[in-house]
Amino acid sequence: MALGPEICITPPRAELAPVSRALIEERVRSCARLPSLRSVENALRELLNSDRRYTHQIAEIIRRDPSLTARLLRLVNSVYFGLSTPINNIEDAVFYLGIRQIRRLAMVTPVIEDFQRLAGNTPFPWRAFWQHCIGVAIMTREVIGCVQTPTDDSDYVAGLIHDMGKIVMAATFPNHFVEIQRRIAVEPRPLQELEQEVLGIQHTELGALYLQNHNLPDIMIETALYHHEPERAGQHAQTIAAVQIANLLVRHAQIGNSGETSVITSEIWTDASGWEILFPHKREAERAIACAALHRSLERLPSILQGLV
Ligand SMILES: [Fe+2]
Ligand SMILES: [Fe+2]
Repeated sequence: MALGPEICITPPRAELAPVSRALIEERVRSCARLPSLRSVENALRELLNSDRRYTHQIAEIIRRDPSLTARLLRLVNSVYFGLSTPINNIEDAVFYLGIRQIRRLAMVTPVIEDFQRLAGNTPFPWRAFWQHCIGVAIMTREVIGCVQTPTDDSDYVAGLIHDMGKIVMAATFPNHFVEIQRRIAVEPRPLQELEQEVLGIQHTELGALYLQNHNLPDIMIETALYHHEPERAGQHAQTIAAVQIANLLVRHAQIGNSGETSVITSEIWTDASGWEILFPHKREAERAIACAALHRSLERLPSILQGLV
């Protein structure tokens, strides 16, 4: 017997209602912390204090962490893919990559592992998302480097955790997270608008709430909250402006997957509000030089990311 049009074969999708503020706060409170954000500081200090003349001393610190060792070797072999024999010892890897790269790698590895644990089994292309996060971290450093010499790694960490709210959303409200992703794939709309409609909170605020609950530094909380509108940021506006531009650049180059589908044209990233914060006196020539340098860094980014995640 043929089924008439009035017979519905698939059951209608259960409507997901936005949740109350109280429930959001309760779930975020019970959300696991990121131990790496504390331990990273110690590992970095140790790497910094080790005598730079002695590669073997640095290699010794790295060897204690098997997952860092594996990533380091993968990175050196993918960045220097032209090498005739693959590198398989840490001393050579340290020689090729240099201490700066190693420090960044040491920082990224445990953070991404924590992110992965937090995200759990929620379906999403996480590997491409980690590439987005690390790509933004690397480009934040490049953007800020156009106006000042950073004295610490806080800008890099800020770039790395800017979309923390998306991971927290996947961990605390997985069904809402999946529904938002399903809808954004079929109706291209600003992600934050959809998050507000479906869940009742945006990833920016959710990330800030999480980082605040775990007493993480202000610069991280503010970055999570204002990375789409650095003009609203206070004390850390310069770093957050760099994160905004880095985020747009990485999305423009279609590197990784941020979970947002709208296309970022050249006009969007060159007109970003963050430029006014970084170059407040309309120094067009300086901005043009910075843009050219950023383009060059962006070209190298895919091969670096390939080795990292
Ligand atoms: Fe974001
Ligand atoms: Fe992002």
